[in-house]
Amino acid sequence: MLKELQFSLSITLLFACGFLYQFLLRSSCFFCLTPFKFQQDPEALLSHGRGIVFVETSERLEPPPLVCCAVESAARVYPEQPVAFFMKGLNSSTQLPSNSSYPAFSLLSALDNVFLLPLDMKKLLEDTPLYSWYIRINASTQAYWLHISSDASRLAIIWKYGGVYMDTDVISIRPIPEENFLAAQSSRYSSNGVFGFLPHHPFLWGCMENFVEHYNSRIWGNQGPILMTRMLRLWCKLGDFQGLSDLRCLNLSFLHPQRFYPISFREWRRYYEVWDRDLSFNDSYALHLWNYMNKEGRTVVRGSNTLVENLFREYCPRTYRDLIQGPEGLVTRKLGPGNK
Ligand SMILES: *[C@@H]1O[C@H](CO)[C@@H](O)[C@H](O)[C@H]1NC(C)=O
Ligand SMILES: *[C@@H]1O[C@H](CO)[C@@H](O)[C@H](O)[C@H]1NC(C)=O
Ligand SMILES: *[C@@H]1O[C@H](CO)[C@@H](O)[C@H](O)[C@H]1NC(C)=O
Ligand SMILES: *[C@@H]1O[C@H](CO)[C@@H](O)[C@H](O)[C@H]1NC(C)=O
Ligand SMILES: *[C@@H]1O[C@H](CO)[C@@H](O)[C@H](O)[C@H]1NC(C)=O
Repeated sequence: MLKELQFSLSITLLFACGFLYQFLLRSSCFFCLTPFKFQQDPEALLSHGRGIVFVETSERLEPPPLVCCAVESAARVYPEQPVAFFMKGLNSSTQLPSNSSYPAFSLLSALDNVFLLPLDMKKLLEDTPLYSWYIRINASTQAYWLHISSDASRLAIIWKYGGVYMDTDVISIRPIPEENFLAAQSSRYSSNGVFGFLPHHPFLWGCMENFVEHYNSRIWGNQGPILMTRMLRLWCKLGDFQGLSDLRCLNLSFLHPQRFYPISFREWRRYYEVWDRDLSFNDSYALHLWNYMNKEGRTVVRGSNTLVENLFREYCPRTYRDLIQGPEGLVTRKLGPGNK
């Protein structure tokens, strides 16, 4: 009797184990088939107005180390907020990269609050003043199309969903305590490399209208920093910065150049020079690395003790480990799958 009971218990246990095993097998296979959190509806993801947004308008899927660092550092500084990386390459490709030849793509998609989304401009620009411009334009005849399409996308995304837009060469170091803001490159000159707004802010609607009205693809930045500066002048009468204070007008903050541009574009090479410890960045929220100035292709070199290497170590340690430290870093990463 006892034997029979033991026997039937064992059988039940065996079935239970089998079922559990099947279930685990299936769920892990579910993960292995769709390893990347990329098929997200931007509406659902960003509708709380607190997202951090990056945009890649080229077709490339494997981000270079600096781009990877920008996204990882934002994910660390804003752990409770979604970090959305819109990639053009995800819209057209049916085949997703799914192996070790895409270490940066894999790294980013494994971060809990990072979401890789297809950049579908037609859909994103719908219901904005940019839509009619977009469907009429022949992209292949526009100089600077990669920049212009990025300028347009960021305005529409932040207008629709709210949140903070950042260029992919901006390393986040501490949270931005502002809701509606533009970042100054210098007194009276705004950038469009970082800005943040609550959803449906009329300033951005005005920017989109002005974009179309004064569209000129032959002038670099005409739809970017020049547009933001033009609009700021329409909205506000701003003087020069005094000391380290930000300026305010209506419900808009115009943030001091120290917040994002403590090293000006003329001095961009300082990021690639040996770290000068006097640079503390205590008055900055994030650092813009001026990648478009970097025509000579400077990179982060392991062991060089440059400012940029130290920034990577501190603000994007996974990127540093996997993409800069190289094979040893990759091996430790493979051994430890617990990065979810
Ligand atoms: C992006 O994808 C959408 C739907 O998946 C498609 O309708 C659209 O044509 C695509 N756009 C580009 C530029 O590939
Ligand atoms: C990774 O994927 C790419 C593109 O699908 C392929 O060309 C490459 O051979 C793959 N590499 C490995 C190691 O599987
Ligand atoms: C866009 O411009 C290119 C280059 O001038 C031309 O070959 C192409 O036919 C144009 N496309 C459309 C849809 O007009
Ligand atoms: C900001 O100010 C503008 C202009 O005064 C106003 O139209 C808009 O509703 C304000 N937005 C918020 C979110 O307070
Ligand atoms: C920057 O802040 C740190 C920590 O608060 C402090 O120890 C350091 O002295 C500050 N540096 C400067 C130059 O103000």
